[in-house]
Amino acid sequence: MKTIKVMTVFGTRPEAIKMAPLIHALEQAPDLESVVCVTAQHREMLDQVMEIFRLKADYDLNIMQPRQTLATITTKSLVGLDTVLEEAKPDLVLVHGDTSTTFAGALAAFYHKIPVGHVEAGLRTFDKYSPFPEEMNRKLTGQIASLHFAPTERNRRNLAAEGITDGVLVCGNTVVDAIHTTVRPDYVFRDPTLQGLDYDGRRVILVTAHRRENYGEAMENIMRALRRLADRYEEIDIVYPVHLSPYVRETAAKFLSGHPRIHLIDPLTVDEMHNLMGRSAMVLTDSGGLQEEAPSLGKPVLVLRRETERPEAVEAGTVRLAGVDEERIFSMACTLLDDPAEYAAMAHAVNPYGDGQTSRRIVQAIRCYFGLTDQMPEPFRP
Ligand code: UD1
Ligand code: UDP
Repeated sequence: MKTIKVMTVFGTRPEAIKMAPLIHALEQAPDLESVVCVTAQHREMLDQVMEIFRLKADYDLNIMQPRQTLATITTKSLVGLDTVLEEAKPDLVLVHGDTSTTFAGALAAFYHKIPVGHVEAGLRTFDKYSPFPEEMNRKLTGQIASLHFAPTERNRRNLAAEGITDGVLVCGNTVVDAIHTTVRPDYVFRDPTLQGLDYDGRRVILVTAHRRENYGEAMENIMRALRRLADRYEEIDIVYPVHLSPYVRETAAKFLSGHPRIHLIDPLTVDEMHNLMGRSAMVLTDSGGLQEEAPSLGKPVLVLRRETERPEAVEAGTVRLAGVDEERIFSMACTLLDDPAEYAAMAHAVNPYGDGQTSRRIVQAIRCYFGLTDQMPEPFRP
């Protein structure tokens, strides 16, 4: 008999990828009822994930607009969720990470006095404008939440420093649960560009870049560095699945199109993406999720940002902060391509972000919160 109604609220590609294993685990729990509400802050990129993981939305706010502003995402989500929460009356709302959907979802639940569980809690750069607006979204969500699912011990300490000590579980990141289901040695690519690449004879460099705080000079620096790399090394292929943000697409097309060794392709489905990562030589990215995924696949990562809220893999030696200066990005990538010892020092698999058991732990902690078990899960330890 299902008793406790748990509503997951999400809207963007990375939230969907990281909520998918948790939704599947919630569906398996006989005493929980799982309800899904998407804001659809992303449309095509969200739908790609829903299809691959066979997720079905019970409520779809369909808010996305071209070149949407932070205020429209937040207000449309908040107003839409107000009606959904009134109708569905969940016992718990789960939000993920640090997007505008995350914050609006937490705020809407708070207005209905519904407790909030924050998945991927406690990540911090301590700079409110970087990443922007994500650092503030996660801090505000942390203030509202009753349950805080912190991936790492460091994330727990960050919360404690803000006075948040109740309801905190160190449980790993659900993205590691997801990657366990997608990466296979015998995987065959569907995308014709990915099918045509020579992963053994040449070196594939996987690139993504989309962050709002990099719009402008920083993103142009990144693009120039990439083009110089492709010019200098004849034996590399740069594969860049370009985010659907019009600004990102215009910039990528302006700086990178027409080069024989740079492949600008549409966003990949997550199974294609994870398997491409598994066969690449290295990853250059400003994405949060890729910084968590690549280390578990043993792929060196250069982070195209000034800071990171994910220093665990930097400390483990598989991720380096390259920043957003053209010369520095170029020279750090050259070092990895020219120096086998430097490359080998970074190319080992580490799992500071999870062991594939995170969703199970979260479900157990939710059951405990509602008195369905008195057994809290064991915390994640790397
Ligand atoms: C959002 C999140 C960011 C997250 C990123 C993941 C906020 C403020 N930002 O940033 O934290 O890292 O998602 O990718 O919450 N678009 C489409 N189709 C899609 C998706 C996007 O056309 O499927 C275009 C639209 O024109 C949209 C624009 O991209 O207006 C920007 O999308 P938005 O969600 O506002 O920002 P992101 O940069 O994707
Ligand atoms: N991803 C994907 N297809 C792509 C690019 C990224 O499936 O073409 C996945 C990636 O593997 C990771 C997530 O999307 O799981 C990261 O999303 P994004 O970089 O958009 O957001 P961030 O993690 O920076 O919030």
